[in-house]
Order: sequence, then structure tokens, then C-alpha cells
Amino acid sequence: MRIVMAEIDLYKDSVEPIYQQLARHFRMAIESGHLLPGDRLPPTRDLARQLGVGRISVVNAYSQLQAEGLIAAHPGRGTYVTGARGSTAVNVQPWPLPGTLNISMREMTRLARQPGVIAFSGGTPPEEFLPVEALRSAINTVLDRDGAAAVTYEESEGYPPLRQQVSEHVTSLGIQCHADEVLITGGAQQALDLVVQALLSEGDTLVTSNPTYLGMLDIAHVRRVIPVGVPMDEHGIRLDALEAVFQERRPGLIYVAPTYHNPTGKIMPLHRRRQLLALAHHYDVPVLEDAVYHELSYSGSPPPPLKALDEYGQVLHASGYSKILLPGTRIGYLIAGGALRERLARVKQAADVCTPGLNQRAMYVYLSSGALTGHLNRVRSELRARCEAACAAARRYLPEGARWAEPSGGLYLWVELPEDGPTAAELYVSAIQHGVAYAIGTLFHTDGSGGRFIRLNFGSQPPARIEEGFRRLGEAWQDWQTSYQPAVRRTPIL
Ligand SMILES: Cc1ncc(COP(=O)(O)O)c(C=O)c1O
Repeated sequence: MRIVMAEIDLYKDSVEPIYQQLARHFRMAIESGHLLPGDRLPPTRDLARQLGVGRISVVNAYSQLQAEGLIAAHPGRGTYVTGARGSTAVNVQPWPLPGTLNISMREMTRLARQPGVIAFSGGTPPEEFLPVEALRSAINTVLDRDGAAAVTYEESEGYPPLRQQVSEHVTSLGIQCHADEVLITGGAQQALDLVVQALLSEGDTLVTSNPTYLGMLDIAHVRRVIPVGVPMDEHGIRLDALEAVFQERRPGLIYVAPTYHNPTGKIMPLHRRRQLLALAHHYDVPVLEDAVYHELSYSGSPPPPLKALDEYGQVLHASGYSKILLPGTRIGYLIAGGALRERLARVKQAADVCTPGLNQRAMYVYLSSGALTGHLNRVRSELRARCEAACAAARRYLPEGARWAEPSGGLYLWVELPEDGPTAAELYVSAIQHGVAYAIGTLFHTDGSGGRFIRLNFGSQPPARIEEGFRRLGEAWQDWQTSYQPAVRRTPIL
């Protein structure tokens, strides 16, 4: 049995209760592999005494970790770690991780929602640009025109005129597509989930970049498939490491977001897109392409989607209207040909029968008006301005040694914090206290790494707020470095 040694900083003035701080500390230690299965945690009474906190705080923290399945109490013998993550170059981890992802995300979201906090943490596009009036008018048009047909069940595959319109839209991006190959889904999120359900079984391997879209890790978690993270370089997922995984694990699916990747903002150049497809073809692995940010370039066009380069019919293309138009209408789509179409439609039917017809029809009316092009141009140019504001503010306020690459599209700045300060998770509470929130890098990783990365969605804030948010972040960092004294500090425990 290994004796647990640890250093715990607790902040009595924090908005985060002591028990949650404690639970967070142990959770991170377990996720990062500092605590291993079989390690014994100190008895609640001893730990409370050593830390100078009430025993109830420790009991609550242990209960929370127990509910998450990370530790287990054995009466008379003590409390032991049960869950852990390994860490290798290409990362394979025990999955599902019982609840850790959701709890962390929930905690983060709750703190970010506090009044006055400038939240760079979410995934929304600029809210001021959501065409609310146009939506109202489209809904009225639909209700006047279609009456009850607009509010009854729609075909599972989607409202036929909208499917036709989506096929024309993706054709304009270079994808050869017939309306029959379009499945309308509840956002792109459901498109990803349907593919995982249709192609993978429990215990199968899903290959993805590391880091990757958090929502895909959520899907892997609930569908009990094993996400295997492949490292990235400046051009996206690394093909040498990918090939090694293909050889070792015979995965059922590879998931990639080649354009304005979330969270890194990276864009995969054309040659790598082609090489990726050739590799996937060689090893006979279907490719799920996520293109939700494809149309958010600040200037010019990105390389064509993978689906446009797909000679062998091995790419499934998921996208939607959340990032470019209206996230709340939950209209996404999946482009899939061949025998898979029928299977996906059945999974969709089983999931929710259909995507709400009123929303689909209103989207159809909006898109038919031709307003999307002008709207997209406005959003892109605003995003460019916001990106410039974010990069300028990052240069001005972030600590020396912080690193980021300026994105050419999308919503996010992916920042690596310097080694000589707090991790993203440690800085988070101080940041909240200064009124700013971001997404912590570990959430996007398949193996609990990424502790020094933060993702900032500058796209959701106007330039003046961006400047102020980064100023607060810089202050939070300084504070942590200089004057922020832990209220209680003990080392080691036990
Ligand atoms: C890469 C990626 N894919 C899919 C989604 C989900 O999009 P939707 O709102 O259309 O479900 C998101 C949302 O943040 C995303 O970032």
C-alpha cells in the first residue's frame, strides 16, 4: 500500500466551498495519476485536523468522490483510490471515467455563471449577432403557412425541403451530395452521437486528436467506447502517431475536426487532409469529420472539407447551424451515403423520433431568404476584430512565457501557461474571484494532461469586454504569484 503524500492549498475566502476544493484536489490527483488505485487516503478526522478545517468538509469531499466512483470506503480498513488515468505519448485510458468529466464541467459552468464574470468558457458564437427578428418572422411564416403540419411529427430523416437545401449548401463547399444523403439531427452533437452509436459497440476504440472536442469525450463516456488520443502538431493530428494507433488497435472510427479545431483553433492543410484520408483508407477506418467551424474563417477560404476529398466514400460529414447562426434551434446534419444511411436513420428515430419540425421549417424559410451569406460575412468580420482584440490583450496582459498561436478562424484562443506559475485549474478560482472564466485544458484531453492550457472563447465577447477580461486574467495570475496567501497550508498529509 502506498502512503499518500500531498500538498493541499485551501482558500477560506473562495466562492468554492472547502469540501469542493478538497474534492477537486483529490480528483485532479487521481486523474493525473499522482494518486493510483490502491492508494489510501487519510482518515477524515486526521485530515481535518491537519488542514484545520471541519471534519464535515472532509466527509463531504470523500462522499462526492465516492459518488463519482473515484474512491471507495471499506469499513474498518480505510478509504482507497479506485479510479485513475495513465499517461503515455499516445494515450489509452480506462474508460468510462466515472463522472469526472461532467462534474468538472458542471463546477466550471456554475462558477462561470456568477454575476459580473466575463465568461470566455463557453462555446457560443457572438450572441448580439443571433438573428432573433429574422427567426421570429420565419416562425410566423411557417405557422401561418403550414399550420398543424409545422407542429406534428416530421420525418426522422428531416424536413425534405431543408434536406434539399443542406445538400445545396454543402455542394457549394465542394461536397457532392444528394438530398437523400442528408440526415437532419439535433445539432451537430447528435450527428456525432448517432455515428458513434451506429458504428461502435461498447469497448470499441474511437481515435481522436489529443486534445479534442469535449462533447465527443462526453459521447465516448456515455456510449462506453474508448477514446484514444493522438498528439497534434501545428497542422493537426499527427499521422505517424495515428498510423501506430491504427496498427495497434484496429479502431472502429476516427473523429477529426480539421478546420478551426476546438479547442486549439488549428487548421489542417490540404496535403495532410489527403494523407489522412489515404491512411484511413489503407487501414479501412471510417472517418467522422466535424465541420461546425468550417465557415468561420476571418478571411479567404480554408481547404475543402475532408468529405469533398473523399474518393472512397469513407467520410461521414457532421456539421450544423449552431456556430454560424442559431445554436438554440438545434439544427445539425450528417452527410452519409450507402448502406449506413438506413442504419443512421433508425438510430435517429430511436433517439428522438425527429428534430422539431417547427425549427426545421423556420430554418428552411430563413435559409431560403438568402440572408445567410450577409449574416456570415458580418459574423466573420466581427470575429476577426474580436480575435485581434484577444491577441492584443493576450500580449498585453498574459504573463511572460504564455504561448498561443493566432487563429485564422473560429472562436477560440488556446493558451499555454508558463511552467513557473499555477496550473489552469489552480488559477481558475483566482480568475473567478477576479471576474473572469475560461475552460481548463485538461477537460479536452483524453488522458488528463493539458493542465497548463486554457481555452478562451473570445468570439462570445465584444472587444471592450475581451480587453477587460484579459486584464482580469493577468491580475489573477499576478495575485496568485505574489500576494495570494493560502488560508491553510499543510504538507505532507498523513
Ligand atoms: C467541435 C464541435 N462539434 C460539435 C459541437 C456541437 O454543436 P451543436 O451545437 O450543433 O450540437 C460543438 C459545439 O461546441 C463543437 O465545438
